[in-house]
Amino acid sequence: MVFRLKQRIGRKFEEEIQFFRGWQKDKKRVGALMPTSAHAARRMASVINPASGMPVLELGAGTGVITKAILERGIEPQQLISVEYSKDFYDRLTRRFPDVDFRLGDAFALGDVLAERSREQFDCVISAVPLLSFPMVQRVALLEDLLARIPAGRPVMQITYGPLSPVVKMPDRYIVSHYDFVVRNIPPAQLWTYTRAL
Ligand SMILES: C[S@@+](CC[C@H](N)C(=O)[O-])C[C@H]1O[C@@H](n2cnc3c(N)ncnc32)[C@H](O)[C@@H]1O
Repeated sequence: MVFRLKQRIGRKFEEEIQFFRGWQKDKKRVGALMPTSAHAARRMASVINPASGMPVLELGAGTGVITKAILERGIEPQQLISVEYSKDFYDRLTRRFPDVDFRLGDAFALGDVLAERSREQFDCVISAVPLLSFPMVQRVALLEDLLARIPAGRPVMQITYGPLSPVVKMPDRYIVSHYDFVVRNIPPAQLWTYTRAL
């Protein structure tokens, strides 16, 4: 019991160090000082419908906190495709979750990154890409690309640290909904969902 607890604390500490190193290397790309909390990760994964039988697309997996929550939601590792830009994070993720289909690359170039799986439809998208580091036109283009990869009515779930939706509202194109304000995260995080009208 004590050994398990020590192991868990050790892993969490290691993740935080790894994340901090990533942040030091590329502050804009990593976009946060601490990994997403397990609580925020579970809230994000709660929108997944495991009964849909469709794969899930994750963006910006980082240390794998959200990856873990997605798998715990009942998604088989082979049914999770996860895109990460940083080679350091990617190498660790592939070691930690060997059966998940990780792709090293840019979420803003999904056609290339997903390659042979580019035409697949996903149940939903769970994204931790630091959108605020990118211009609004790029954010809207990414969201439009993601919405084309999931059924109408299913969400793109996005974590962010600002008070407003990181993607501008366009009611004729998509529905923006505030999902949660997660205080149990450093810094406190906002969760937003984006859906195409049914
Ligand atoms: C705020 S961190 C969150 C990471 C993860 N959720 C965690 O808690 O460990 C953002 C992550 O998005 C990744 N990222 C940034 N830009 C990206 C892009 N264009 N495509 C894919 N991943 C990206 C970063 O490398 C980083 O791992």
